[in-house]
Amino acid sequence: MRLYQLVQLSCLAVLLASCQQSDPDSGLATEADPQASSITTGEGVSGGMVPDNPQVSASGGEALAVFEKRILPIFQANKPSSCTECHLSGVELRDYIQTDQAKTFASLVRVGLIDVEKPDDSKILRFINRSPEKPNLITDKVRQQEHDAFQAWIRAAVKDPALLAAKSSDSTGPQIPDEVIRHARKDRVLASFIDNVWTEVGRCAACHSPDQNQKQVKEHGEQVSWITLRNPQATLNHMVDAGIINADEPLESMLLTKPTMQVEHGGGQKMVVGDRTYKQFRRFIDDYASVVNGRYKTVAGIPVESDELSVVTDIWFKITEVPARYDKMLLQADLYRSTGAGWSKHRVASSDRLVFGKGKLWQHSLSLTATRGSEWADEMKSGRLPAGRYLVKLYIDQTGRLQKDFRTELGDEEFVGQVEIESQWPSGYGRMTAIQFPTE
Ligand code: HEC
Ligand code: HEC
Repeated sequence: MRLYQLVQLSCLAVLLASCQQSDPDSGLATEADPQASSITTGEGVSGGMVPDNPQVSASGGEALAVFEKRILPIFQANKPSSCTECHLSGVELRDYIQTDQAKTFASLVRVGLIDVEKPDDSKILRFINRSPEKPNLITDKVRQQEHDAFQAWIRAAVKDPALLAAKSSDSTGPQIPDEVIRHARKDRVLASFIDNVWTEVGRCAACHSPDQNQKQVKEHGEQVSWITLRNPQATLNHMVDAGIINADEPLESMLLTKPTMQVEHGGGQKMVVGDRTYKQFRRFIDDYASVVNGRYKTVAGIPVESDELSVVTDIWFKITEVPARYDKMLLQADLYRSTGAGWSKHRVASSDRLVFGKGKLWQHSLSLTATRGSEWADEMKSGRLPAGRYLVKLYIDQTGRLQKDFRTELGDEEFVGQVEIESQWPSGYGRMTAIQFPTE
């Protein structure tokens, strides 16, 4: 039964496709051809209204024919419409179509998407025509077909008194709030990727960026080059294709499992569950999975974007004399800058990594951190930390809180001490700023 239906559907699809190709503007052709009109009249009005005027009935049948031949297939198709080039979910052209022509027309008129006076100016045509700066050739062709189909149908439909008289109280279009549609837009998703992932890949670049990893590629193969230089969108696309980001099983994403060593990783342990980088990666991956799977239905369901932005630097920071008992625990160092009036309110840099107990050592590169929209958020893009006096607050996760709940922020309970320092904050592994662990 299923198979039979499938076959039937695909035959129909072939038929429709060929109709479309051989006679792209069939609607207009019949208009100028009285003979064709009378043929359409004979078929088209069956089950519809019975008009006195053959001209009118001609266009009535014509609109229906175009609707059935070119609009309904868009409704029934299971391939994505051109809208998905910019909207990852939440919006499909079929949301504007119902199986019934009159209802479709009336609801589109009601919400102002069809202009019955100037059919070619109808807003829905402009909607469909919206294309990105660098359109994809295939989507562009789909878009053109969608546009021409709607244009032909609207042109025919506005000449049909029965359709013009049709009333609808139905809403049309996507049934989710605009804010949800906005959240699922590709440009928004890319912006979140840049905030949460792209800004961190600097710490993976030595082995994963094609300008630096010849040795790794030779040993392990091309797949280690998962960063595309200066191109976050291409990097995201590749990550999705390669399963580095897995929208169906977010926690299986290699972006999480490799650097945390949940699976073997040629680069060793680069993050731990719950550290700042992990939090950011999860924020993006979890949200991405919900977006592409269309899981958001309400504004309340959309996650709030983080108030903090960060930038990875090559400024190294070292703490010596760390008590060995903190071995393999996550130590987080937050830096506050001296201002005219005490210490900065928000941390201006941060770094977190496991303690190396045997060496009584902790060292890592700093990430600059700022509140979104602040002046410092702009300044820190240079990757430099101004010379001067800073307060370093230290936290150690001694109870494995982050492992249990990666969203947790270390706080008073994990606080182990603070140190004031003055530094020029030079960059480079060989020029680390160092402090001693505060005596307890
Ligand atoms: C080139 C990218 C692009 C394409 C393709 C695109 N849209 Fe959009 N869409 C946008 C942008 C950008 C916005 C928000 C800005 C605006 O309203 O001008 C938006 C907004 C919307 C909104 C309103 C939600 C809001 O933010 O207020 C709807 C509904 C919508 N689009 C539907 C569609 C449909 C249906 C299609 C396919 C026929 C489509 N879009 C194709 C980029 C696109
Ligand atoms: C010192 C070198 C090195 C660093 C730094 C490094 N890695 Fe790797 N990574 C490797 C090597 C080598 C492989 C290939 C072997 C393997 O799959 O484990 C690899 C593989 C991967 C893969 C699998 C790619 C694929 O498509 O198969 C991912 C994902 C990954 N690393 C993520 C990261 C992340 C995220 C970081 C930064 C936080 C990072 N790595 C830092 C060396 C490194």
